[in-house]
Amino acid sequence: MYTQAMDIPGGPKAVAAATPEEAARNSAFDARIAADLKIEPRDVMPEAYRKTLVRQISQHAHSEVVGMLPEGNWITRAPSLKRKAILLAKVQDEGGHGLYLYAAAETLGTSRDQMVDALLAGRAKYSSIFNYPTLTWADMGAIGWLVDGAAIMNQIPLCRCSYGPYARAMIRICKEESFHQRQGFDIMLSLCKGTAAQKEMAQDALNRWWWPVVQMFGPPDKDSVHSGQSAAWGIKRISNDDLRQKFIDATVPQAELLGITIPDPGLKWNEERGHYDYGAIDWDEFWRVVNGDGPCNRERLATRIEAHAEGAWVREAATAYAEKAAARELAGKRAA
Ligand SMILES: [Fe+2]
Ligand SMILES: [Fe+2]
Repeated sequence: MYTQAMDIPGGPKAVAAATPEEAARNSAFDARIAADLKIEPRDVMPEAYRKTLVRQISQHAHSEVVGMLPEGNWITRAPSLKRKAILLAKVQDEGGHGLYLYAAAETLGTSRDQMVDALLAGRAKYSSIFNYPTLTWADMGAIGWLVDGAAIMNQIPLCRCSYGPYARAMIRICKEESFHQRQGFDIMLSLCKGTAAQKEMAQDALNRWWWPVVQMFGPPDKDSVHSGQSAAWGIKRISNDDLRQKFIDATVPQAELLGITIPDPGLKWNEERGHYDYGAIDWDEFWRVVNGDGPCNRERLATRIEAHAEGAWVREAATAYAEKAAARELAGKRAA
């Protein structure tokens, strides 16, 4: 999902307490987790919990910000004023999600500059889904319907995450994601009710986005290296495979309503399980994209690097203004 690199080898692992004091602190933390109480920035927490959260929340923030690029590509080409205004609002929401999440991660002691540097240097991950191109207007429909739809599946349980600032950011974000999903479905519905060429465009977008979206939930549970620890800490509440299944089960009837076909010949209702069975997922493709070799990885990173460089004067001006305002306030206090 937006934090799918959490499931990838190389992340922080829980370590045993080094001293009796640390063990006592950890047991206070464990008691809060066991009681399902929120952990707040000033509460004691094991270093591995802090690192895991910084990694997860910053990856999530990067995904929101990089996720503006594929859709930003279509703002100038939206087919009507109404669609343009909706898409503009949606892309701005994603930028806002990035900002809430950077702010939530900063409460754990890592600065936004450090997180952004890690992204631009290629050390931090973001969701694999944003490394695919947006070739037609129907891709705006498919992204809202499927990508934001998948994001909601993943993010609703995060509203109950044990870390307070992250959980609270997710509550607000989820409200906006549901509007994103509906605007995407509405685009698909208009295209599917339109001309044969429009319906064909919707089908083509579904064909290209389906498998990358199914991969968004991250590797199968048996290969997901950090999930166990994250579940014990109350960060991850539902497993990758369970979320994927929930998403597929919810999406199949929506595709039927649209009258377009999910490109998976293995998709079939399983009466016994009470779920849809689905075909084999190409995990080689997933790993290739996560590790930097997707269709748009280089382009996305280059765009972010350029945007960051072009924004340097804004950051400098804001810093200079803040320094002047602080100096004025200090001078005012001295005079009083
Ligand atoms: Fe978002
Ligand atoms: Fe969204």
